[in-house]
Amino acid sequence: MAKQSSSSTTFLFQKKKTRWLLILLAMLSVSTAVAFIIRAAYDSSCDRHLFDVPVVGKRFQSTAKPKKAPPPPVMVQVKVASPLSFMKSKVVLLVSHELSLSGGPLLLMELAFLLRGVGAEVCWITIQKPPGKDEVIYSLENKMLDRGVQVFSAKGREAIDTAIKADLVVLNTAVAGKWLDAVLNKDVPRVLPKVLWWIHEMRGHYFKLDYVKHLPMVAGSMIDSYVTAEYWKNRTQERLKIQMPKTYVVHLGNSKELMDVAEDSVAKRVLREHVRESLGVRNDDILFAAINSVSRGKGQDLFLRSFYESLQLIQEKKLQVPSIHAVIVGSDTSVQTKFETELRNFVAQKKIQHRVHFVNKTLTVAPYLAAIDVLVQNSQGRGECFGRITIEAMAFQLPVLGTSAGGTAEIVVNGSTGFLHPAGKEGVSPLAENMVKLATHVERRLTMGKRGYERVKEMFLEHHMADRIAGVLKEVLHKAKGQH
Ligand SMILES: *[C@@H]1O[C@H](CO)[C@@H](O)[C@H](O)[C@H]1NC(C)=O
Ligand SMILES: *[C@@H]1O[C@H](CO)[C@@H](O)[C@H](O)[C@H]1NC(C)=O
Ligand SMILES: *[C@@H]1O[C@H](CO)[C@@H](O)[C@H](O)[C@H]1NC(C)=O
Repeated sequence: MAKQSSSSTTFLFQKKKTRWLLILLAMLSVSTAVAFIIRAAYDSSCDRHLFDVPVVGKRFQSTAKPKKAPPPPVMVQVKVASPLSFMKSKVVLLVSHELSLSGGPLLLMELAFLLRGVGAEVCWITIQKPPGKDEVIYSLENKMLDRGVQVFSAKGREAIDTAIKADLVVLNTAVAGKWLDAVLNKDVPRVLPKVLWWIHEMRGHYFKLDYVKHLPMVAGSMIDSYVTAEYWKNRTQERLKIQMPKTYVVHLGNSKELMDVAEDSVAKRVLREHVRESLGVRNDDILFAAINSVSRGKGQDLFLRSFYESLQLIQEKKLQVPSIHAVIVGSDTSVQTKFETELRNFVAQKKIQHRVHFVNKTLTVAPYLAAIDVLVQNSQGRGECFGRITIEAMAFQLPVLGTSAGGTAEIVVNGSTGFLHPAGKEGVSPLAENMVKLATHVERRLTMGKRGYERVKEMFLEHHMADRIAGVLKEVLHKAKGQH
């Protein structure tokens, strides 16, 4: 905000661009200042949200006005009425199972702000809070209060009264179902017809009657991908003998903040140079990245095996390619010790330390997306519920090599915006071959990245998500009214 500090850099960049660029660079180097945020940044559920909205989002807002659209390469940005404007003055209660920097809560916060933006009365409760003061909760609650979201205790009279008078109640994640009986008691039947249940999980242990027994009676459920919706339908029927309510699939979208960075070539270049230098990767080396919390489910072990195989392929076939590197963003030696150790042992054993880089968990993925050439989304098993990093990478014009599982297969167009390979061990060689393909064919790699970007512009932006959510909310409100 200091005038003189920005004027010294205006000769380099436009002022408004400089600010968040500096913030991003600062966040890269001042890791301790954001350590508390980073610790909680990864979730247990199947989606996550890594970029910088909660940390610097507010600063973006206060410094970015008067906000000019970044130079749009294709279409002109026009300010149109929000598709959610019919929610003006509606009372909405958002029920979050926890408040942390993981995918579920952050997404619900985004919805809170979209609704505030159109003048809805938005109330928020968090079911599970750790005892004592928690810095993340404190800062996120303040961020909400700043934007006019009312924050209540999950158990008090206020929560019950709001649930009763609300036009809409959004339960976030399957686990949030426990709140209904625990707090509303006899009022549960009155509230259910106006409940929209937003589900982001795809793990067996969520299929518990304890959590989801009220599902059949709510107005609707909203799920992040078709495959996850299908899975819920099957599992509830087979395991629990209950019917899903009307289910809406709502693919997520990229935030405006992320798109601003992704569409700024100067910023990208600065971030790219900075990150590559810090990793010891040269500008024309090819950098493959997995950006996920390090865990077996996310498949970094198999990614490294593919990477090693691709090195062997290149050597065997004597291919003329730039030197290739792999970076794993999402390390946390304090939690995933055994798996982390396994990864590092593999790297040491194969003597590829100079080509494989580990980066700690971070919320700030934009610099890494700016620095890499290909994203590898190697989630195993049923895959990602959606996998937001995939659309974030596509926004940065990166091709994606992803497992043909979960939401990834709904985002990546095989052969066009990237390549899909099977999950599990049988995917190791196909992924290796795909990596070699992208390393050898520069044109193809760039074209795939561009097509990915176009796909994002067509269907994975915030306004697309708002459009899709608006369609759901309209139906749910209509249904809830009909019940009265
Ligand atoms: C759901 O069940 C049907 C029939 O049993 C099966 O064909 C389908 O693959 C299942 N879908 C998922 C996502 O498990
Ligand atoms: C990464 O995290 C580990 C353990 O939490 C820590 O010891 C290390 O200093 C961190 N590295 C950086 C570059 O921050
Ligand atoms: C993806 O496309 C390639 C050819 O481009 C094909 O060999 C592969 O089987 C496809 N994978 C999936 C999962 O469709």
